[in-house]
Amino acid sequence: MSRERILVVDDDHLIRDILSERLEKKGFRVLRAASLSEARTAISRATPDLAILDVKLPDGEGTELLPELSGEEGVPCVMMTAHGTVTSAVEALRQGAEDFLEKPFSMDRLDTTLAHVLERTRLRRQLKALRDAGSQGGGIVGVSPEMEGVMGLVRRMASADQATVLLLGETGTGKGMVARALHELSPRAQGPFVNVTCSALTESLMESELFGHEKGAFTDARTTKRGLVEVAHGGTLFLDEIAELTPALQSKLLRFLEDHTFRRVGATEDRTVDVRVVAATNRNLQAEVETGRFREDLYYRLRVLPITLPPLRQRRGDVAALVAAFIAAFNKELGRAVEGVDPETQQVLEAYSWPGNVRELRNVVERAVLLSDGPILTTDLLPPEVRRGGSGGEGSLTTVELGPSGIDLEELERHLLEEALRQAHGNRTQAGRLLGLSRHQIRNRLHKYGMADS
Ligand SMILES: Nc1ncnc2c1ncn2[C@@H]1O[C@H](COP(=O)(O)OP(=O)(O)OP(=O)(O)O)[C@@H](O)[C@H]1O
Ligand SMILES: [Mg+2]
Repeated sequence: MSRERILVVDDDHLIRDILSERLEKKGFRVLRAASLSEARTAISRATPDLAILDVKLPDGEGTELLPELSGEEGVPCVMMTAHGTVTSAVEALRQGAEDFLEKPFSMDRLDTTLAHVLERTRLRRQLKALRDAGSQGGGIVGVSPEMEGVMGLVRRMASADQATVLLLGETGTGKGMVARALHELSPRAQGPFVNVTCSALTESLMESELFGHEKGAFTDARTTKRGLVEVAHGGTLFLDEIAELTPALQSKLLRFLEDHTFRRVGATEDRTVDVRVVAATNRNLQAEVETGRFREDLYYRLRVLPITLPPLRQRRGDVAALVAAFIAAFNKELGRAVEGVDPETQQVLEAYSWPGNVRELRNVVERAVLLSDGPILTTDLLPPEVRRGGSGGEGSLTTVELGPSGIDLEELERHLLEEALRQAHGNRTQAGRLLGLSRHQIRNRLHKYGMADS
């Protein structure tokens, strides 16, 4: 096991020494810093796996590092707070700290807090990797006239790289994939691709995520933070699940789309960025407009360049090509040597209605490849609803939304188990394999969460 690197930031050398000694004894590598600037230098040399920060430092507050460090792929931070200042601890958590240690604390308390935070971070990364793996398919596969039409549009719109594009289509039809293709085929391909799920956060958090905020804009805004529109500068901003934006944010987005200017929360001046916006929804936006949930003017603004991804049942000609592509991908991933499907299976797959579209087909192929013990896939490897030719029920994978922090370990672990079980179609051994757990370990955990007989 590789030794984890922990950054200790405190201007009190005694505390620094005690902590470092303890951590080194526990097998961690320790980076030490006595100020914000020393911390920044240390971080720029070697990214730590975790940071322990004191609040009061000679050149500022430890919390100033939180926006720079925390975040999904970032460095988890533990704040050391003075005794009795519960509010500042809570504030630190809100700003992205993973946990806090109230001074004075015992070495046992230090150990358990760090173990907890490291474990939570590991689980969260694993969950993300698992999800990313579930949503990547390499190239877009499509041989039907419908998909050829779509790909023609994608190529043309990719080169018109200023224009906003709206992606429509049922769940699992490939909108996420097309958004990425629009970026990768565009002159912006070298720039960032920033994916925002509009339903993931509350309105005020979403606004400051998207547009950023100035120091002091609200109670927790201790530092200035760039919005995702700025992070996407020179690249593509993908606004997924656009129908979920609240009315206030819809009007802010409309303004942004007009001339790409915006204002950070609490700022007095406008800023301008160069981004191409791609928006997507699996809802019927027109109907959302009619019921008053979605602004009509924003709808018209977005609808200038729409691409509608047809449901899989309307392009059955793609099924064979998709099956072949997924078999090849899963052979590689799972170390199998499946060659194809027998004619009856081919027929069943083409006849099914695929309510979960390509995502569902992908899951069905993965399951069949996993269960197979010969080179040819047969109908008995298909889930009952596909074999029966029914409309299916579990078509769309629901995603678990995680906030940046504040989710406890058990909840994360439960999400992770659920996600793995879903991807493994309920097969526990396979779910365990996805998570790197033995049969014994996964059985214990399922039992712990009362999921043993699900
Ligand atoms: N044409 C395609 N070729 C290969 N893989 C595809 C294709 N379309 C979709 N997929 C795969 O199907 C899965 C679902 O696609 P994607 O996430 O893009 O759907 P979506 O339209 O964004 O769905 P939702 O509305 O639920 O977000 C992904 O794993 C993706 O890689
Ligand atoms: Mg999607």
